[in-house]
Amino acid sequence: MTDPQRMTWGFSTAGRILFGPGAVGQLEQVAERLRSARALIVTDQAIAAAGLVERVIAPLEAAGVAVDVFDGGEPEPSFDVARRSIEFARDCDPDTIIGLGGGSNMDLAKVTAVGVTHGGDFRQYVDHDNIPGPVRPLICIPTTAGTGSEVSHSAVLTDTDNDIKVSTLSEYLRPQYAIVDPELTRSCPKKPTADAGIDALTHAVEAYLATRYNELPIPAGSSFPYEGAHPLGQALAEQAIRLVGEHLVQVVNNLDDMEAREGMALAATLAGMAFSNCGVALVHGMEYPLGGALHCTHGEGNGLLLPYVMRFNLPKRTAELARIAALLGEDVAGLSEKEAAERAIEAVMRLNEAIGIPTRIRQLGGTREQLPEFARKAYAIKRLTTLTPRQPSEADILAIYEEAF
Ligand SMILES: NC(=O)c1ccc[n+]([C@@H]2O[C@H](COP(=O)([O-])OP(=O)(O)OC[C@H]3O[C@@H](n4cnc5c(N)ncnc54)[C@H](O)[C@@H]3O)[C@@H](O)[C@H]2O)c1
Ligand SMILES: [Zn+2]
Repeated sequence: MTDPQRMTWGFSTAGRILFGPGAVGQLEQVAERLRSARALIVTDQAIAAAGLVERVIAPLEAAGVAVDVFDGGEPEPSFDVARRSIEFARDCDPDTIIGLGGGSNMDLAKVTAVGVTHGGDFRQYVDHDNIPGPVRPLICIPTTAGTGSEVSHSAVLTDTDNDIKVSTLSEYLRPQYAIVDPELTRSCPKKPTADAGIDALTHAVEAYLATRYNELPIPAGSSFPYEGAHPLGQALAEQAIRLVGEHLVQVVNNLDDMEAREGMALAATLAGMAFSNCGVALVHGMEYPLGGALHCTHGEGNGLLLPYVMRFNLPKRTAELARIAALLGEDVAGLSEKEAAERAIEAVMRLNEAIGIPTRIRQLGGTREQLPEFARKAYAIKRLTTLTPRQPSEADILAIYEEAF
């Protein structure tokens, strides 16, 4: 039902986005502008081994900034890693925190900034709007093209005690600077390139199809982490979908194709701007228990589930799905709207196969017996079911998992 109070929508992103080959060199001016004297780079050993930490240290040193490096990050970081990173940060007491890596390290940097600014344990910050105030300046520098964490207001950790991914969402988590330099993605291996790329598509599609801002059953101005689909977010999502259609298979087949790398870097940031305002929905809700239990990557889980959830949403979003088919490069001339919408689902299935994303839960080692538990956990993430254009019951979610099994 339309809520008459909700006639307006809003939009936020990183304080400033610096985009393009060589953009990381501008870190010197950024550090000067922030009056930074001591920066902490939060990263991992693979990023260090690829020589990317030096690319970040050089402009910082040119600006006279003392630099510490925490390289204990890991993919899909756990609470334990976050505790270590925060402890490290307390010891060196940086005035600026830099997340360098994929979504995992950028999220770890966000959580580290919260921990070093406000103290306490991550658990108290889980969910929406539980961060008490601004955090020390955050700069995010992605080395994958996918998560959009460089512009988003969320950070995701893995709760290994309860086998689920959990997030904290707050406007205080938007980085002051997002430095998106496609050259830093060149060394990203094939699998994280594919996984992150399909995550970007998932963000764009979920934002594009989300419950609309004026139909969200939450009054404007009340506390909810997303706005619902709105024209600005949808415009960004359309461009992101088009760019993924153009570049993702190409980049996975040729990791040195820098034009495709740049296209995907842009796609990921645009998709991040779209989803962190309009929302992500059931694909992400269903990925959290799946990824938590099966330890697949976020991108794999999302990519696998995406076409099945698109099919579930088709009756409510036929025209939008038909448009997605065209954006992905499908020839939809002469087709009915429903036929064109089906093409979008087929295109995503084909894309998954082309880049090596599993198409069945059993390929990830999941068992049929786990599915009811997954459905129970996914159904409980109310913010994500609310944003799903066709409201799912727990039984609907189980049916989608079974179809994807
Ligand atoms: N905060 C958000 O808005 C948001 C959004 C989506 C996903 N996420 C989170 O992001 C994480 C996934 O991030 P991701 O897909 O970017 O992968 P990732 O950060 O987990 O990186 C995957 C692997 O690739 C390596 N790698 C990355 N870039 C490299 C490079 N240029 N050269 C060499 N090695 C490189 C990393 O060291 C790591 O081992 C998940 O935890 C997910 O939940 C967060
Ligand atoms: Zn995601």
